[in-house]
Amino acid sequence: MTRPSTDRKFPQGFYWGVATAAYQIEGAWNEDGKGMSIWDTYAHTPGKIKNGDTGDVAVDHYHRYKEDVALMKDIGANAYRFSISWPRIFPDGAGAPNAKGVDFYKRVTDELRANGIEPFATLYHWDLPQALEDKYGGWRSKDTSKAFADYCGYIAQQLGDRVKHYFTINEFSSFVEMGYHGVEVDLGGKRVRMESAPGVDVGREIYQVRHHVIVAHGLAVQAIRAQGAKETKVGPAEVIQCAVPMIETPEHIKAAQAATRELNAPYLTVMLEGKYTDAYLRQAGKDAPKVTSEDMRAIASPVDLVGVNVYKAAFYAMASDEAPGWFQVPFSKSHPRMFNRWLTFAPEAIYWAPKFVQTMWGAKEIFITENGCASDDVVAEDGGVYDTDRVMLMRNYLTQLQRAIDDAAPVKGYFHWSLMDNFEWMEGYGNRFGLVRVDFKTLERKPKLSAEWFREAARKNAVA
Ligand code: BGC
Repeated sequence: MTRPSTDRKFPQGFYWGVATAAYQIEGAWNEDGKGMSIWDTYAHTPGKIKNGDTGDVAVDHYHRYKEDVALMKDIGANAYRFSISWPRIFPDGAGAPNAKGVDFYKRVTDELRANGIEPFATLYHWDLPQALEDKYGGWRSKDTSKAFADYCGYIAQQLGDRVKHYFTINEFSSFVEMGYHGVEVDLGGKRVRMESAPGVDVGREIYQVRHHVIVAHGLAVQAIRAQGAKETKVGPAEVIQCAVPMIETPEHIKAAQAATRELNAPYLTVMLEGKYTDAYLRQAGKDAPKVTSEDMRAIASPVDLVGVNVYKAAFYAMASDEAPGWFQVPFSKSHPRMFNRWLTFAPEAIYWAPKFVQTMWGAKEIFITENGCASDDVVAEDGGVYDTDRVMLMRNYLTQLQRAIDDAAPVKGYFHWSLMDNFEWMEGYGNRFGLVRVDFKTLERKPKLSAEWFREAARKNAVA
């Protein structure tokens, strides 16, 4: 019998982490031999980013990383998920590596280790070398997948003594769908179209683009295994589309799980099952991806861990007698949404996401690689930032996560998105996701109320 939890404790050794990504924090976009990425190009294109913001300086983490590691320590984090900028390592995407780029990540990881913070590296958080976009059309070509694997193998060699946990690719579905197609997002009452770098529409070729990205993941897993240290662990970090059972009865849970499997068909499902679902192939029709058996073997490479980013529920599901066997419950108009209208408040998603990943795919180690929200983060007269909405979100989501662990889901860590306010892609600096506030003029950092909550939760190893 599982122990009924009254103290809402997490297991010993649980990772209390914070997350960031290279383009969103580093700045130094053209320093020390770094090559251009598609995000440098996109942000420099007039009209693409709110207020014409760019990541040229971002929050200058490239120069302030020591201060930022000190901040992590101060807020009680014992793990840090960051991403490596591919064009910093290979300015042309492939070929000769840039020693100064590698050296930066060596310095960052040394600093982390010296402060008792475990580094978790993501190898791709959307900043594709522009050279590969120019040469191959980016992810439209499998040559990019191969170049990615070479870069990952090289990193595993270089950082193998310092970094034991790797995530191959962050949020496959976000950058593929927004970057190569454009997606419609529901903002509650209004729907908007969103696109991101490189900002091309490949139409039905999207099935092939998706395929190249999961092949890249698989080849990267193999390369990291072959070239990393023995105890290295690797897996994907996907924003799981989780259908949440509206009512927790066996029939609705089963329906929600089946829906979740289909919702993730192009990415998690095929990576963890090793083949595309029948429904997905039917939907693709004559545009189904052209695959080789070698591709499928790579895609199915066993992973040590599965990272899931959980912000919201894809939808609430109920069982249905009609095909496909579930009913998508529409969100009521008054359903609570956070500062970002796309973020429908649904703490149960962080219970069901790891449960389903475990029950459907037998994952042995699961990480919540992102969770969080933006807030208006006004500085009060006394200088404090009282982000009560972020505290509410964390408390409720972590309560559900703790419940999942009590129910035997093998969740080993939680990474809050984000350590500090940063460049929020198309929103520029308008959306603040940090536990730490950054004054974008002076770049001064200051922990918010939520940082205090996080520190207490990490200290107690329990929901605070
Ligand atoms: C991404 C982050 C992003 C965050 C908030 C995730 O989709 O991985 O880069 O800043 O959500 O929108």
